[in-house]
Amino acid sequence: MTDTPGTSRATEPGTDPQAPEWWRSGVVYQVWPRSFADSDGDGVGDLGGVISKLDHLERLGVDAVWLSPVHASPMVDNGYDISDYQDVAPEFGTLAQLDELVAQAHARGIRVVMDLVVNHTSDQHAWFRESRSSVESPYRDFYWWRPPREGHVGGEPGAEPTNWESFFSGSTWQWDEATGAYYLHLFAPEQPDLSWENPAVRQAVHAMMRWWLDRGIDGFRMDVVNLISKRVVPGTPGLADAPVPPGAPPGSYAAPGDETFNGPRIHELLAEMHREVFAGRDAGLVTVGEMPGTTIEHGRLYTDPARAEVDMIFTFEHVDLDSGPGGKWDLRPLELPRLKATLDRWQQGLADVGWNSLYWSNHDQPRPVSRFGDDSPQHRVRSATALATVLQLHRGTAYVYQGEELGMTNAPFATIDDFDDLESVNHYRERVARGDDPEQLLAALRVKSRDNARTPVQWTAGRHAGFTTGEPWLAVNPNHVEVNAESQYDDPASVFSHYRRLIALRHDEPVVARGDFTLLLPEHERLWAFTRRADGVTLTVLAHLSDGELDPVAEGVVASPGAEVVLTNEGTAASAYAPLGPWAARVLRSQD
Ligand code: NOJ
Repeated sequence: MTDTPGTSRATEPGTDPQAPEWWRSGVVYQVWPRSFADSDGDGVGDLGGVISKLDHLERLGVDAVWLSPVHASPMVDNGYDISDYQDVAPEFGTLAQLDELVAQAHARGIRVVMDLVVNHTSDQHAWFRESRSSVESPYRDFYWWRPPREGHVGGEPGAEPTNWESFFSGSTWQWDEATGAYYLHLFAPEQPDLSWENPAVRQAVHAMMRWWLDRGIDGFRMDVVNLISKRVVPGTPGLADAPVPPGAPPGSYAAPGDETFNGPRIHELLAEMHREVFAGRDAGLVTVGEMPGTTIEHGRLYTDPARAEVDMIFTFEHVDLDSGPGGKWDLRPLELPRLKATLDRWQQGLADVGWNSLYWSNHDQPRPVSRFGDDSPQHRVRSATALATVLQLHRGTAYVYQGEELGMTNAPFATIDDFDDLESVNHYRERVARGDDPEQLLAALRVKSRDNARTPVQWTAGRHAGFTTGEPWLAVNPNHVEVNAESQYDDPASVFSHYRRLIALRHDEPVVARGDFTLLLPEHERLWAFTRRADGVTLTVLAHLSDGELDPVAEGVVASPGAEVVLTNEGTAASAYAPLGPWAARVLRSQD
């Protein structure tokens, strides 16, 4: 299997691509359309571009595409602010093109999963426009409207109904003069939160979801869906304040926590959604809940098939390990034992009940080869492939974010003007205004900004990496001259070819979906080693995540006689337990 990229798929339970639970051995490829491929030369990726690259996805061997939002939107948060759930943004194309994409993907055996952004809408959505127009509006209670805090005048500092801090800086409350009230927005002010306490909201969202399923899509990735239930103070119409960390300056907003994550009605709301939308439909549909701040206990409840809430979740602990107590921009070095331990805890926690998503990156995270690997020309290919091997051979559904399969890296942003994303730009402006050092702020942005993931996909070494014939909306990474799809397809040593082999291995080896998981040498600082076992088959994964050489047996890995190498990023297959070179990854298979 090592040198023969394949797309063959086994039909054992849990690995049949036609089976209801195809996703257990499956791989989902995330398309963030704005930066994927531009078919009309306006510098913005679009649905025509996605259709034109389906061959790329088929060649890679993925089972499904998750399409980040293409809905009508003013694009304040690049599409995560939807103004019409049942239409497509003109810069992305038309509903007819979306139907064509679904048909063409299905013809290739690729499912299409849409983003579902229903914690909030855009402030331009008809529901919100109605809601803000009058306290009498039938849509008033679609959103969270609250008076100023007692004894305060609306709009003055400290008058906000709770002390919650928005994910995108500042308070989560926006004063609205028209009706003299605040509305809640956990994200930008242009993203007002829907009130899931209101049955009319739930019915409207369920109807919209059924409309999409009737159109032929294969499921939903649900944006921050564990935030839809907020902690309401019992017996009062208010919401609960969050505890302010000791030492925080007076008037500080408190970072979101238990008041907004996994709220009191969350399991009930998801079970109801499942009943109202999915019950009685094709069992091959898939639901994925993006769940920041989720615990293993909640994770088991969310994904226990017997409870019928969602099929799997996205968790965040492993992508928060390089953040300090000050949050995302408070950079901390990443320690391999902690990273291994975090993934291991979730493997064990969801071993008997539940299911997780495996991801290094998405449109909100920096590029994994720059973050967890070594993106120098010397080690980029090896470290990208070693990281992929480790992740995808855990238990769970694997996700590949566009460009990850090419080993794309973080971008060389020079000044604040090179950034686009509101999270980065708001943070920078707020902190500069408070007197923080702009250079230090920029240094953190370069490492963590979401824009790292949003530079256009590098298809060729040519102008704008073949992404557009026009001017790209965000600059293409100059390293596209070396890092691009075209140069990788026929190169067996490329990142793309390795991903292809890895995906084939996931499909072909039932143990990947079904096997148990045992972490070896948890404290080792350079070696990530584990076994997967089921039905007498053992896969042993060995990855040396650093420069230099490492002898796995000398470090304590017990050799299993008869183990054969089934996948490696070392080129010529080394013997099973030979020393591992820099960033070498090797997968061994043995049978009882
Ligand atoms: C999570 C999405 O992944 C992110 O891109 C977005 O900004 C927020 N949710 C708000 O929708």
